[in-house]
Amino acid sequence: MVLSEKELLEKEKKYCSWGDTVHYLEPPKFFDRCEGSYLYDKAGQKYLDLQMWYSAASFGYANPRLGDALKRQIDKLPQLACQYLHPEKVELAEKIAKSVERLFGEKGRVHFNVGGSQAVEDSLKLVRNHTKKNLVFAFMGGYHGRTLGASAITSSYRYRRRYGHFSDKAHFVPYPYCYRCPYGKKYPDCGMYCAKQFEKLFETEYNGVLDTKVNESEYGAFYVESIQGTGGYVIPPKEYFPHIKKTLDRHKILLVDDEIQMGFHRAGKLWGLANFGVKPDIIVFGKALTNGLNPLSGVWAKEYLINPKVFPAGSTHSTFSSNTLGTAVGLEVMKMSEEKNYEKSVFDKGKKFLARLKALQKRHPKIIGDVDGLGLALRMEICHPSDGYTPDRKMADKMFVMGMRGGLKTSKGKYGLVLDVGGYYKNVFTIAPAFDITEAEMDLSIELFDILIRKNS
Ligand SMILES: Cc1ncc(COP(=O)(O)O)c(C=O)c1O
Repeated sequence: MVLSEKELLEKEKKYCSWGDTVHYLEPPKFFDRCEGSYLYDKAGQKYLDLQMWYSAASFGYANPRLGDALKRQIDKLPQLACQYLHPEKVELAEKIAKSVERLFGEKGRVHFNVGGSQAVEDSLKLVRNHTKKNLVFAFMGGYHGRTLGASAITSSYRYRRRYGHFSDKAHFVPYPYCYRCPYGKKYPDCGMYCAKQFEKLFETEYNGVLDTKVNESEYGAFYVESIQGTGGYVIPPKEYFPHIKKTLDRHKILLVDDEIQMGFHRAGKLWGLANFGVKPDIIVFGKALTNGLNPLSGVWAKEYLINPKVFPAGSTHSTFSSNTLGTAVGLEVMKMSEEKNYEKSVFDKGKKFLARLKALQKRHPKIIGDVDGLGLALRMEICHPSDGYTPDRKMADKMFVMGMRGGLKTSKGKYGLVLDVGGYYKNVFTIAPAFDITEAEMDLSIELFDILIRKNS
């Protein structure tokens, strides 16, 4: 017997925990099928997806090449305890390590895990193991996951409030969010005031981060997202990271690059931080590595941080880490990345999409306060028409809900629009389309945004 959605919702009410994010939308949404840039509901209605599972399905839903890789592995080696080796694990580690060598000129090794937060936990172990420090810096607006360790370095107190502290909370540093500068300055006249403020922390021992007599910081690492994901796809000015990296190097503080959302070409380059002229000591990745198929995540670290002498057998482990289905798909993703020039196509498409968003902003200057983007990591801030700047969370929410409801009449027929709302004030559409999005789909996106703005303003 096939249950109706109404019947399923009744059961969900009774048997499912509501502790995940499903009930951010009421009533929650069922989908039936997915392909390319689209999700389909049971009635067959198409929903254009502009968030692609928060950038976990960047290579398109039901990508046939990745599906085939998964099917081949299901027929060959569908499962294997992680204490034994299989070829795809080794080959994938090599490809990731070599990609870091190519982009950053650094040698290192890879350790796999299952989810992003778990890989973040592993990176915290690497930091603590080497530096013997528990404390790290992280950004205001940053998001690194919701396990206990990862939520301690994630900016939002909402994710910690009911659980207390297990790991040490990060020292949160303002991110260069120039559209809403935390210091009220204007770029470029600010002269990188924010980076200088970070540098200033180390001027005297009385700022609480450094024993100046021995040049030893109490902080082992700085966790960064090159472009803040959940924080609203905020792109820093190009001078920012080189400036703070100098400060970190001076005080032997590691730079940990969380590429879970921006990695695998979301911001054009394979690794997002490669856009900003600095080299990381540790990289954490997940999401699009398997395009949302079998979960796999991992951490790359410089050789001196992760070689078997300092990080010996048993240092960290999870039953499903380096699972054979995940590594098979991950390997295919890396092969695709080598064969197809995603760096070029994502930058090209990103420019075209951004130009369309800017044209839309011109039509609604009092509602779209800011649009920006790098590669296909694009942002649009919904603001209050009274001044075109005050964040308008209510309107962003209404647009989101209406898009999810579907039935929007466009020149191409009826559609839904799948959006993700992020940002410090939850008024930013973090736009992460599929890498194969066509120009016609970009036009459709703009038409749908336009309908949602007109219907809600
Ligand atoms: C930048 C970043 N780090 C960490 C995570 C956590 O990853 P996961 O949800 O797979 O645990 C996310 C997830 O959205 C993320 O965007």
